[in-house]
Amino acid sequence: MTKVLVIGSKGMLGRDLCVRLRQEFEVVEADIEEVDIRDHAATCKLVSSIKPDEVVNVAAFTDVDGAEIRPSLAYEINAEGAGNVAKAASQIGARCTYIGTDFIFATDKGKNAPYVEDDEPRPMGVYSRSKLAGELNVKRYADRFLIIRTAWLFGLHGKNFIDAILKKARESDLRVVDDQVGCPTFSIDLSEAIARLLRTQDTGTFHCCNAGSCSWCEFARAIVGMAGFDKVEVSPISTEELNRPAPRPAYSVLNTDKLLEKTGFRMPPWEDALGRYLRLREERQR
Ligand SMILES: NC(=O)c1ccc[n+]([C@@H]2O[C@H](COP(=O)([O-])OP(=O)(O)OC[C@H]3O[C@@H](n4cnc5c(N)ncnc54)[C@H](OP(=O)(O)O)[C@@H]3O)[C@@H](O)[C@H]2O)c1
Repeated sequence: MTKVLVIGSKGMLGRDLCVRLRQEFEVVEADIEEVDIRDHAATCKLVSSIKPDEVVNVAAFTDVDGAEIRPSLAYEINAEGAGNVAKAASQIGARCTYIGTDFIFATDKGKNAPYVEDDEPRPMGVYSRSKLAGELNVKRYADRFLIIRTAWLFGLHGKNFIDAILKKARESDLRVVDDQVGCPTFSIDLSEAIARLLRTQDTGTFHCCNAGSCSWCEFARAIVGMAGFDKVEVSPISTEELNRPAPRPAYSVLNTDKLLEKTGFRMPPWEDALGRYLRLREERQR
């Protein structure tokens, strides 16, 4: 049975991913308590002691605004850490999987066609640049790799936009950004896509997100609607009005045709994913 080492297994994606991978692979989990990927020697030691066929790195510094304040830490984890994992995987002949982000595709004014894997990245802000540097390190150091770019992630095991909107909807009306468009993505559906890519012997970059796209404001309206907050008003505001520390792309929709071509799998529409997320969330709260 193929042995998969998942590093970052206790994060939002990591938790769902391990559950899904266990259905068809032998899974070994590691997170910051087992290994700090900033430490090259420790990462090599762990990987060579486990001897997996696949190393999946979902560990990251994911606080987009926080990265503006702590740029060195973001680079150490997202870029150098990614390189350390890639080197460690290559030393034992394992394929290395890295999770990338849609945020590397910054504003192309007027862009309205989904990005394909070969489109030129134009990252803005520390987080996006550190994640692109991570991709480049994976390509440089890993003999065989999967770079899986995803977007606007939500899952049951981490802080996410849906929970933030539901919390605020209990207290007041909402003002949500309407000039950023992307692809909301459920960590359970992304885990399915990763499992299917791991079945292949492919190497390269893949875009994996739920089908369709929307603005954050449209996403928030769907959340309050599906959750039954009929009287809550969601008003559009601009990115400029919100004034967050990190810049964010106006349009970062990803084209997922390559995933479909290689695996026969298209991730379901984001509205369907949102409905499943809300049902699971309710079951957990009972
Ligand atoms: N969230 C999104 O919207 C989004 C969108 C696009 C792409 N992505 C990418 O998807 C991946 C998974 O994201 P996520 O939201 O699931 O992340 P997450 O919940 O923040 O999980 C990351 C995990 O990695 C661990 N970690 C952090 N630094 C580490 C280190 N130096 N060594 C070992 N482990 C470390 C974290 O531990 P601590 O919690 O103790 O720090 C956490 O358990 C990331 O690569 C992220 O960049 C995320």
